[in-house]
Amino acid sequence: MLKPFQLHRNYFVVALASAIVALVALQGLARSSPSPGSPTFYRDVLPILQQRCQVCHRDGGIAPMPLVTYEETKPWAQAIRDDVRSRKMPPWFADPRYGHFANDPSLTEQQVETISSWVDANAPAGGPGDAPPPVRWTNGWNIPEPDVVLPMSKPVAIPAQGDVEYTYEIVSTGFSEDKWVQMSEIQPSSRAHVHHAVVYIRPPESKWLRGAPVGIPFPASNLKDDKLRQDVHSTDSDMLLVYAPGSSPDRWPDGMAKFVPAQSDLVFQMHYTTNGRAATDQTRIGIVFAKSRPKQRVLSLQLANEHDTIPIPPAAENYRVEVHGTLPNDAALLSFFPHMHVRGKRFEYNIVHPDGSLETLLRVNYDFYWQLSYRLAEPRLLKAGTWLQAVAWYDNSRNNPHNPDPDSPVRWGDQTYNEMMVGFFDVAVPANVGKWQFFIRQPQLRK
Ligand code: HEC
Repeated sequence: MLKPFQLHRNYFVVALASAIVALVALQGLARSSPSPGSPTFYRDVLPILQQRCQVCHRDGGIAPMPLVTYEETKPWAQAIRDDVRSRKMPPWFADPRYGHFANDPSLTEQQVETISSWVDANAPAGGPGDAPPPVRWTNGWNIPEPDVVLPMSKPVAIPAQGDVEYTYEIVSTGFSEDKWVQMSEIQPSSRAHVHHAVVYIRPPESKWLRGAPVGIPFPASNLKDDKLRQDVHSTDSDMLLVYAPGSSPDRWPDGMAKFVPAQSDLVFQMHYTTNGRAATDQTRIGIVFAKSRPKQRVLSLQLANEHDTIPIPPAAENYRVEVHGTLPNDAALLSFFPHMHVRGKRFEYNIVHPDGSLETLLRVNYDFYWQLSYRLAEPRLLKAGTWLQAVAWYDNSRNNPHNPDPDSPVRWGDQTYNEMMVGFFDVAVPANVGKWQFFIRQPQLRK
């Protein structure tokens, strides 16, 4: 997938050299005439855009404008300089003091410098012959061409206004044999209305939502049966993937994959938000299968605190909520996905060592509008009994620009104006261990 970028490995050196030349050359030069040494679009800037920006800034990407051609990029030059200098773009919210992440898109100092001096030199095009080959994006996907695309069978109508209850749709996979999923990507058809989507794997023996319709969208309140209605919110089914604004597809390392047993269904849980415009949405998931049977199975787990600590008092600026759990069995920690709503301010995952010391694995300066997953550069092996802690901080004061109502306490709930505290994380376990087996604690660890 990243192959095309590797062609430009020498680029950094070139960029650094030319940035230094440009800096020297710029002193005393009129801004309007690009100096011979200044970075050019084709040679120096385009490779950075390809590598770090076009995943969103291209036709059909989530960003408002493509940054693919010179003509498309030039009008944005100053905004680009400002946003890369302030590190607003590319979006990334992990505190750099903790952990290393495989999907960290942050620009190097040299790249920021290259872009800045290019803009300062009046954004010269340079020679098109210097351009790297264009990146060939797979037809609308950020994963390679999917082996299977499973859409929700029926589009969902979203009203112009008001709250929309979570909508569920059960989609049968039709898989006649067990499948291992190496990569997957969720694509809403109306991104502006999808607050989140969770796609669960419902294996054939699961009792979850049996009796609910298949292939037809429904909110829990439409279900006739009381027990079914309760059932909706409680499942031990593994998640295949979560989507939220800004989130990226799953790509598990070689030898690791998600397991979808033959004859499973996928359960789409959709949270739509209204924005004054009615629309329909038909979200789909694209799947790339593992080429061979993996050694390890990926499970998505969560640390959540629904009970103790929320409601958050009015005007609280730094309200702290904590939750912890001990790992029932050995596992390799792979990635994190913190989830809060608009009062969310900061989220941390820690290991609490036996001597009481804390080791921070990830600290996110949370932004509700950019819910990202954070993939460890190297899996971290954790022993059974490891004490994992998640801590969330909320800002329910007026200082929080996203706060819809600083004068009221905030309770737990599905809607954006309620709050949540969920620290999702993914682990790899032996391929034959499912979620249920994983939670059987080794006897010596029982207290
Ligand atoms: C993960 C997707 C993503 C990536 C990667 C990304 N952007 Fe963006 N960008 C967006 C979205 C979405 C917006 C509009 C919303 C916003 O401003 O937050 C945006 C907005 C911008 C804007 C502001 C436009 C305006 O209206 O002022 C600039 C400039 C920009 N991006 C430049 C870049 C550059 C340069 C890179 C690469 C170094 C980059 N972006 C990488 C998604 C992305």
